[in-house]
Amino acid sequence: MKGALFDLDGVIADTAVYHFRAWRKLVKDHFDRELPDKLEEKTKGVSRADSLKVILDYLGVTVPQEQFDALAAEKNEAYRALLAGLTSADILPGIPELIAQMKRHDVRLSLASASMNGPFILEKLGLSDTFDAIADPSKVAAGKPAPDIFLEAASEIGFDPGDCVGLEDSVAGITAINAAGAFSVGVGSPSELGHAKLLVPDTSALQYDAIETAFERR
Ligand code: BG6
Ligand code: MG
Repeated sequence: MKGALFDLDGVIADTAVYHFRAWRKLVKDHFDRELPDKLEEKTKGVSRADSLKVILDYLGVTVPQEQFDALAAEKNEAYRALLAGLTSADILPGIPELIAQMKRHDVRLSLASASMNGPFILEKLGLSDTFDAIADPSKVAAGKPAPDIFLEAASEIGFDPGDCVGLEDSVAGITAINAAGAFSVGVGSPSELGHAKLLVPDTSALQYDAIETAFERR
């Protein structure tokens, strides 16, 4: 296990809830409609534009490109406002210990987030210097569930994806890790993340030794 490819939202920090809160506000303000809880999973791990497509599809609405771009920008503003008070206290339980153990074992860390806000969030969490690389989602051809961002994240730290683990909380993200040929570690429930090679219910259950053992037995 030479590298760890981390998703950000919902794995390192509890920002996944803010994404959906911002989408809900946008939809309420512009279309006076509510979004059901079940739509959240369909937007997890999925790029901003693809998430907006999922939402407009649900609403049965089509908008011209200009309005589409304006809606995406407005969602991002609402999201960034929700992130204003983010600090290292918002790092999810178990993550600081896991990162420390990985560092101790010379595992290199690379961010494989679909979010354009990745560098900004790592900075707010005080984790910018902890990561050896950040894969840029604007530079990859296809978003999750395609493997591209995980391939890029592995390449950024100079390792074959097969020598890396990928950590994810989304359906699309686990599919992407598996397609990249890395070892998928899911954080969530078996009903959604049954395709993860190793699954834990929440981040506090992420144990370095258990991940390493499962990785060696893959
Ligand atoms: C992912 C989130 O990490 O980033 C998605 O799980 C989000 O919900 C995507 O749509 C893109 O994020 P951003 O910050 O670029 O809008
Ligand atoms: Mg996530």
